[in-house]
Amino acid sequence: MPTHARTFLVAIVALFALRAETCAERAEPRGEGAAAGATAEQMADHFDEGLAIRDALIEGDLDAARRRARSLVERKPEALPAQAAGYVAEFRAAAQAVWEAPDRGTLARAVGRLAASCGACHRGSNVHVEFEPPAPPPADPGVAGHMWRHLWAADRLWEGLVGPSDEAWTRGTAALADAALRPEVLSPDIPVYPRIEALAHRVHALAEEGSTAGDTRARIDVYAGLLATCARCHGLLAE
Ligand code: HEC
Ligand code: HEC
Repeated sequence: MPTHARTFLVAIVALFALRAETCAERAEPRGEGAAAGATAEQMADHFDEGLAIRDALIEGDLDAARRRARSLVERKPEALPAQAAGYVAEFRAAAQAVWEAPDRGTLARAVGRLAASCGACHRGSNVHVEFEPPAPPPADPGVAGHMWRHLWAADRLWEGLVGPSDEAWTRGTAALADAALRPEVLSPDIPVYPRIEALAHRVHALAEEGSTAGDTRARIDVYAGLLATCARCHGLLAE
């Protein structure tokens, strides 16, 4: 494995481990609604598992995403309010689709569907999940700085689908647009550079598409396209 790829992998693995341990950069979600029975603990758990699946995909580790989804499917659901129970089937079907996804594109789409299935149940249960996002990382011309803003934006888009929250969604697309990767900051001497450059443009195009995507279906498409692009570029760099 070339050195740049190894450095990259070490950085990204360390990063996600750090996030999992401290949750320092994560929004603290709060649910508000009349639904009794679905414990906040179960939701915190869903939230963590969902994020872990998504993070594995961003990293480009499809197998880890599938493994996590499988454990979500195999977990016995706890008691939920009657009106929420009907949504469990779609939630589980989406997790199953992640588990069984044959390729990156299908997997990304299933992750989008999973996030939207959280949002559908919340809406159907009259639960409004609020997110208080951490401050966005400062604009920074380097690659790592761009990436931290990408990740911050991806977190907001996830919240936009899970909430569901228009506000979170808009925060995410706005941050992505202003944090568009400038390919020239990537080192042009690496062999995969031309393909990477195209992917950097794709992120920007998706941010624009996302800013006008009003309904859930369109947002799932944008979100899936975005995650697949993160995964594709990171995957190329690790080759
Ligand atoms: C089958 C219905 C259903 C599904 C599916 C579902 N939720 Fe929830 N969620 C609820 C209900 C009901 C509440 C309100 C719980 C309460 O107020 O005690 C809630 C509350 C929450 C909260 C706020 C918890 C708190 O601290 O008050 C978060 C965060 C959350 N859900 C995340 C998720 C995520 C992420 C997913 C998908 C990976 C998901 N939920 C899927 C029904 C669902
Ligand atoms: C055009 C290629 C490309 C795309 C697309 C891309 N990344 Fe990256 N990413 C990189 C490179 C290159 C690095 C390594 C940076 C470094 O050396 O620190 C990286 C590293 C990261 C890191 C680790 C940052 C650190 O401190 O080292 C995170 C987090 C990250 N990317 C998130 C994302 C997210 C989220 C997306 C999708 C919204 C995304 N990336 C899309 C190229 C890309």
